[in-house]
Amino acid sequence: MITISIDLGERAYPVYLGAELLAKTGALTRELGVNGHAAIITDSTVGPLYAKRVVDSLKSAGYPVSTHTVLAGEKAKSFRSVETLCESLARAQLDRHSFIVALGGGVVGDLAGFVASIYYRGIPFLQIPTTIMAQVDSSIGGKTAINLSHGKNLVGRFHQPFAIIADIETLNTLGTLEHNEGFAEVIKYGVIWDSDLLETVMRSPLDLSEIVKRCIEIKAAIVKQDEYETRGTRELLNFGHTIGHAVEATAGYGQMLHGEAVSIGMMAAAWISKTKFGFPVDDLAKLQDCLNHFQLPLKIPHPFSSASILETVFTDKKFVAGKIRFVVASGLGKATVTEEVTKEDLAMAIEAVKEPHP
Ligand SMILES: NC(=O)c1ccc[n+]([C@@H]2O[C@H](COP(=O)([O-])OP(=O)(O)OC[C@H]3O[C@@H](n4cnc5c(N)ncnc54)[C@H](O)[C@@H]3O)[C@@H](O)[C@H]2O)c1
Ligand SMILES: [Zn+2]
Repeated sequence: MITISIDLGERAYPVYLGAELLAKTGALTRELGVNGHAAIITDSTVGPLYAKRVVDSLKSAGYPVSTHTVLAGEKAKSFRSVETLCESLARAQLDRHSFIVALGGGVVGDLAGFVASIYYRGIPFLQIPTTIMAQVDSSIGGKTAINLSHGKNLVGRFHQPFAIIADIETLNTLGTLEHNEGFAEVIKYGVIWDSDLLETVMRSPLDLSEIVKRCIEIKAAIVKQDEYETRGTRELLNFGHTIGHAVEATAGYGQMLHGEAVSIGMMAAAWISKTKFGFPVDDLAKLQDCLNHFQLPLKIPHPFSSASILETVFTDKKFVAGKIRFVVASGLGKATVTEEVTKEDLAMAIEAVKEPHP
């Protein structure tokens, strides 16, 4: 097991990364001095696979434990689930001296984290991410959220976990699609921060623990510089997400995995970067090769309406005073935030990455 620190001053916390860590949940939590009733929030796929190990570990460390399960999939990031979960926590008699354990992918992490941020005005929570997406990105940095029909993650809070336990072995049960979609965020780090990652992901055999470790370190560095996304650095993580989120919302939550939508969004952002910001054609080809390698989609499926995607982009939270702040790259590993991207650029980019009419 290795420990990577998320260095946020008084809100600092450790990420434990390694194998067979679920069975250590109770002991690690005790070591951190956390007490009270543990409420595990998980989903209908992850619960049957892994909840027992976590429950047993917490119980043997002396914690009272209850388990609360939502249906797997993006639709769970809703006010309806928040209400159901809060009622369920109250029935289990959780008070403000309790804590929540988010056991699952990014959906469970975002939802359980949001619940933890509001239940009894905020209680501590532990992240146990079980997808590549969640281990490399969503569990780190304290952004929690649910969706509105108008757009992704429009309701949420910053609420940092007290620790993250990333058990690499849980990734063995991911389906091919869920495995591959996580690489959208890994490839994103390659574009915005460390272009070497784009070589690493193409190597065979894939060194997954090394890749997860590298991504956690990158996210830790970004979040340390800009915890509340007020200094520009953290915004870089939105590369591919403006159009990606709009595609995801337009498809209907759960119709597409987050990473798939981000893959398309990155192609659109790369197209804008090439057209206006000097992103080299070779770099675009390399990005495309990497996404292809993980069978990620590059184009918006043909039946989608460009107009409704564009409209959704315009209700996205990345608009500040009518201007869109958009992440572009001038080369691999070199990204910046700009206000020079217009509505016309976005419309053209959407057309450029749309599947042609058959
Ligand atoms: N908070 C952030 O900073 C941040 C960053 C990136 C993404 N996100 C959010 O993360 C979400 C996407 O996360 P995700 O891709 O992990 O989706 P997910 O949580 O829906 O997981 C994908 C699927 O894999 C299943 N699954 C999870 N772990 C498994 C395992 N070990 N074995 C077998 N099946 C497993 C889940 O049940 C689900 O069906 C999106 O809502 C996105 O907005 C948040
Ligand atoms: Zn993302």
